[in-house]
Amino acid sequence: MTELTVLVTDRHDEAEGVFSLDLSAVGDAGLPQWSPGAHIDVSVGAAGVRQYSLCGDPASDHWRIAILHDPAGRGGSDHLFRTALPGTRLQVSLPRNNFELRDSEEYVFVAGGIGITPILPMLVAAERAGRTWTLYYGARTRAHLAFAADLRRYSRVRLVPQDEAGLLPLAEIFGEHSGATVYCCGPEPMLAAVETEGARAGSEVRTERFTARIVDTAADREFEVRLAIDGRSLPIPAGRSIVDVLESAGITLITSCREGTCGSCETAVLEGVVEHRDSVLTAQERESGRTMLPCVSRARSEVLVLDL
Ligand code: FES
Repeated sequence: MTELTVLVTDRHDEAEGVFSLDLSAVGDAGLPQWSPGAHIDVSVGAAGVRQYSLCGDPASDHWRIAILHDPAGRGGSDHLFRTALPGTRLQVSLPRNNFELRDSEEYVFVAGGIGITPILPMLVAAERAGRTWTLYYGARTRAHLAFAADLRRYSRVRLVPQDEAGLLPLAEIFGEHSGATVYCCGPEPMLAAVETEGARAGSEVRTERFTARIVDTAADREFEVRLAIDGRSLPIPAGRSIVDVLESAGITLITSCREGTCGSCETAVLEGVVEHRDSVLTAQERESGRTMLPCVSRARSEVLVLDL
């Protein structure tokens, strides 16, 4: 990843198991601009790299990220929990946005747990643009609702602790806001339910996932990738990704997550039909077949010609 060193200037508890970090530039150059929906990659020591949404105000001179501390996870959040104290330096990437807030007359934001983070700056942007919006925010309990104190200043926020009010009433929400553009981030079952309900209601739904999709790989077969630049042909066997095979052939793509969630390896497709397995491209982008995420996606056709 393109690296930038930032300084942790502040740290706060935001909910049960969630803490936020304020990050400032090191030196006088300031931090790069970003837009609502953007995330950064953060180096987390031996655990590798993790993606975190920028959840502060894009107009501010510092960045804010929030982390769900999972002591039994893969080690990334625990590394930050133990080491990211005020005064610590972190290696991060430039902001990347796979979840742009497109213009709409009305927005419905649906968030679950730590999935509130990319939504927070969207609320600020929608409010500043004078758009109609409503946020439905669910979490296990009231104590798990992050940034609840900030959110309570808006009258358009519905906080839904599951132990008191059950799951978000998605059918009701879509029924009440037909025609609104829906942005959703949260755990996989919520994302899948919102996509299903959105398809039924004919609403435009945009989602962001930070975990890989669960894919059945049992029927995977070999296909061929052809490079546009020199016509070289590489067989991609079942069990290996395009990125892996390209690297073995000395062709390095920019990668970060390697599980189809960050968008950094997006590559243009010139010919062939893609079997999309990422969590980044929209339904329209998949349909167009113009790009793919070769760290996870494969081919439906015998051959894929990539713009490499
Ligand atoms: S490396 Fe993150 S989507 Fe491919």
